[in-house]
Amino acid sequence: MEHEIKTIGLLTSGGDAPGMNAAVRAVTRAAIFHGIKVKAIYRGYKGLIKGEVEEFHSENVSGIIGRGGTILRSARSEKFRTPEGRAAAYETIKREEIDALVVIGGDGTFTGAKTFTKEYNIPIVGVPGTVDNDLWGTDSTIGYDTALNTIMDCVDKIRDTATSHERIFFIEVMGRDAGFLALNSAIAGGAEAAIIPERKTAEEQIEAFIGHGLRKSKNSSIVLVAEHTFPGDAQGLADILVKNHPEYDVRVTILGHLQRGGSPTAYDRILASRMGVAAVNALLEDQRSVMIGLVNDEIVYVPFSKAIKKDKDVKPDSVAALQILAI
Ligand code: F6P
Repeated sequence: MEHEIKTIGLLTSGGDAPGMNAAVRAVTRAAIFHGIKVKAIYRGYKGLIKGEVEEFHSENVSGIIGRGGTILRSARSEKFRTPEGRAAAYETIKREEIDALVVIGGDGTFTGAKTFTKEYNIPIVGVPGTVDNDLWGTDSTIGYDTALNTIMDCVDKIRDTATSHERIFFIEVMGRDAGFLALNSAIAGGAEAAIIPERKTAEEQIEAFIGHGLRKSKNSSIVLVAEHTFPGDAQGLADILVKNHPEYDVRVTILGHLQRGGSPTAYDRILASRMGVAAVNALLEDQRSVMIGLVNDEIVYVPFSKAIKKDKDVKPDSVAALQILAI
């Protein structure tokens, strides 16, 4: 079938996430399957501005489905936030004869895409790749499940020391402004509490944790702390706890970027593969300015404006389950 899109530009942008490579593979192969050329753009919008482009064939994406990170490299581009930066990016699009873009990334990536598509009328479809799971309109983002599993493994290991030394551990995890990683890794790791930005203040949550019987039935505790919930993050909270309760032996572990690395889980590989194929289908159906989502195991199209609106809430039953199971 003849269609207007002959060449797709493909990039990954923002924080890397396990499964991005599986998505790169899926978009590349689905496009080639439909007779569309793929131009890979390196280093996200930065590379689009600079013109770092290479045509990809099926073999360019061989053997990458299980690799973490992104073979396209990633970056956060300040320049793309400026009209001059976007004008330079559009020059690359014209020069390379790119008819549409598939962008794999998170909130910042889609915010940039939304502006760019409006200014230059180029169709853009987004694939949600971020460990934070903070995009509205999809049950999960690519990389979230792998990061959750990584954190769970760390919690299991830290539990050994927490129990042996009868300590309270504060484990700080990523999430930017969202508590999905903290809450669900707390449930998966059998932790005693999670301090998340979606519920009350951090101080109130710590008070509740102490009030709910800290050490009444256990000789140790693990608290998952979502980054940016409190000034000084997990260390700041630990300092306050020690000040008010010098009797407790408290330690802090910041998991940092090890949460973003590693081979993607089966769930993330399948999610990325389905979403990558769906992104090409969306362009063939003349969709523009939408993110691919997965809701109740069905592919959906979510306008960028809705995906980035930041009001995806944690599930109240999950919050309750953590509290109930920590008695
Ligand atoms: O958005 C993904 C994320 O890992 C956040 O959870 C975290 O706050 C941020 O990126 C860290 O960014 P960087 O890798 O640039 O330090």
